[in-house]
Amino acid sequence: MTNRTISHIIEPNLVIEGAGVLLRRSFGPHVSNKFDPFLLFDHFAFNNPLEGPSRGFPTHPHRGIETVTYMLEGTVRHRDSLGNAGTIAEGDVQWMTSGRGILHEEMPRRSANGNIYGFQLWVNLPAAQKMSEPRYQEVTSGTIPEIQREGAVIRLMAGEVDGVRGPVTEISAAPLYMDVKLEPGTRFVYPIPSGHTALMYVFEGVGEFSGEVVESISMVVLNDDGDQIEVKSETGVRFMLMAGAPFKEPIVPYGPFVMNTREEIEQTLRDLRNGTFIK
Ligand code: FE2
Repeated sequence: MTNRTISHIIEPNLVIEGAGVLLRRSFGPHVSNKFDPFLLFDHFAFNNPLEGPSRGFPTHPHRGIETVTYMLEGTVRHRDSLGNAGTIAEGDVQWMTSGRGILHEEMPRRSANGNIYGFQLWVNLPAAQKMSEPRYQEVTSGTIPEIQREGAVIRLMAGEVDGVRGPVTEISAAPLYMDVKLEPGTRFVYPIPSGHTALMYVFEGVGEFSGEVVESISMVVLNDDGDQIEVKSETGVRFMLMAGAPFKEPIVPYGPFVMNTREEIEQTLRDLRNGTFIK
């Protein structure tokens, strides 16, 4: 087994989305599709009560993607055009497959001590699935397996670790998505098939990733030159690990839509105008 080396480290940009929500964006959808099958990674952390109430993301559409919301602190209330409504609570994951179209609203709420802390990952859908039926997989915190191994605590959303499978299944990209916490003095090695895109979002502490020191908050992009990752930490570190096989299809993103061609984006906009976006 060989360690994958670091290609580069992204320092997330502060961006404003929705009705004025400040978040840290590591990357967003782009025709270059560099992180295929992943399209976007956002980190919301509103920890200053002086910012006032969180304004959230009022009703908006999605087509052609999956959005994965994982909350560590605070909650997100949601409502959608399929008639679903609920709350993503602390430690929960919501894996939403927009397929051909969904309209939804996502409203973050502060925890009792005033914080909101969570992540949203967008995963692409292959051309054959872009116009599929929309669906949700809601996973409550208690049903996410927590795997302990030699100083590492892994919360597994999707994929397989040591024979344990994450609760989110039947995702086209068959991604691995997990929250990894290393206690001080831990070495963590994990296989990632060569050919798969692999990213690590370091959000607490500091660690040595493939021999390079990386401090939070940073998105580590790995080269495809090995078949495992190695992370060591003297003082403890926590990161989200995502990996998956690229679809290698062209993409045309437009706001909350990611399709394969310009014509499909134009059709999406016509569907919205004509009221045929959702059935
Ligand atoms: Fe959304």
